[in-house]
Amino acid sequence: MPAIYLGALSGTSLDSVDVAAVDFDGGATLIAFASRPIDRAVAQRVTHLQTQPAPLAELARLDCEFGHLFADAVLALIEDQSLAAGAIEAVGLHGQTLLHRPDDACPCSVQIGDPNIVAARTGLTTVADFRRADIALGGQGAPLTPAFHRELFGHLERAAVVNIGGIANLSVLGGGEVAGFDTGPGNCLMDAWMMRHQQQPYDDEGRWAASAAPDRELLARLLAHPPFSAPPPKSFCTSQFHLGWLDDYLMDGADPAAVQATLAELTAATITDALRHHAAGAETLLVCGGGVHNRHLMQRLSALTGVRVRSTDTEGVPPDRVEALAFAWLARQRLARASGVIAAATGATQAALLGGVYLPPPGPPPGTEQKG
Ligand SMILES: Nc1ncnc2c1ncn2[C@@H]1O[C@H](COP(=O)(O)OP(=O)(O)OP(=O)(O)O)[C@@H](O)[C@H]1O
Ligand SMILES: [Mg+2]
Repeated sequence: MPAIYLGALSGTSLDSVDVAAVDFDGGATLIAFASRPIDRAVAQRVTHLQTQPAPLAELARLDCEFGHLFADAVLALIEDQSLAAGAIEAVGLHGQTLLHRPDDACPCSVQIGDPNIVAARTGLTTVADFRRADIALGGQGAPLTPAFHRELFGHLERAAVVNIGGIANLSVLGGGEVAGFDTGPGNCLMDAWMMRHQQQPYDDEGRWAASAAPDRELLARLLAHPPFSAPPPKSFCTSQFHLGWLDDYLMDGADPAAVQATLAELTAATITDALRHHAAGAETLLVCGGGVHNRHLMQRLSALTGVRVRSTDTEGVPPDRVEALAFAWLARQRLARASGVIAAATGATQAALLGGVYLPPPGPPPGTEQKG
């Protein structure tokens, strides 16, 4: 059986479509990775759909457009790397999350990026819809990466992994009752505040946050938000941490730089709390996701946790590629009929087989037909 699987996703930060090619022959070797920025106008349409009433047709249209964005990214990676189509077993397509509400009366999680389009255009088996099998078993449908983090980094003793994307999620390595959960906002509030006040998509290296002292009273009010102290399993959606949510906590005349410093502190403090309560023996915190590039945040994590805080790069895994690698692995698990989720992390009654399998059309994919 070919050993190469692709993992494709665009995260909640709506920054890029990422694709990894991973060879699982005797480990998990990243053989290629590509990241394509998401057009600002497309990202804004997604945000609009998440926050405003919108026609159903817009949802259907974005599902189709993201299907093509993912297919474009997969095909470009295959071509750039001259990967032989026959060597690729499947694509693990996470898609783009629009909504994640596992605690609603009728729990749901919605990802777009039509897998039929990816299967048709690439000619590859495509595994998608990774979250809902877990939700159907009473789980949060998130986080899905603790099992893979253990696969990659389980040899490390006394360590935990935190992925700091739009939301931050912790994986506890080694044994213990809690395997992982979402800790709260990762970059999403800092990004939104940055866009409002500095018209930039993110606070480069956390320089703006580092320029001011956090507002301790504001931080205390934010930390009192009950979900932060709720026990796991728990997961969050970036739509829970929008600027309207933050505005309700702000006093008139708040200094924007001090608010940014407070938001960085909120991310660092909620991760620190999670580590203290559920990975107390950890001496190392491995960090992946875009938050690793926020130097100020990394310094605050070091100071607050008191443990060694380092990038997954130090373990040979580039921090911006871990999530894409995870979905390649989850596709492999699905085709092997093996679970890739730790039920204790999501709260499901059992470990589900994650993902629906979309088979490619029987004929050759477009563009490969014999002419003449
Ligand atoms: N140089 C940098 N300085 C500060 N922050 C950065 C830098 N580069 C990236 N980031 C942050 O990382 C974010 C992107 O991270 P990432 O791609 O891991 O998140 P994501 O796409 O939301 O993924 P997911 O939600 O699936 O974990 C950016 O929105 C930004 O906040
Ligand atoms: Mg991203």
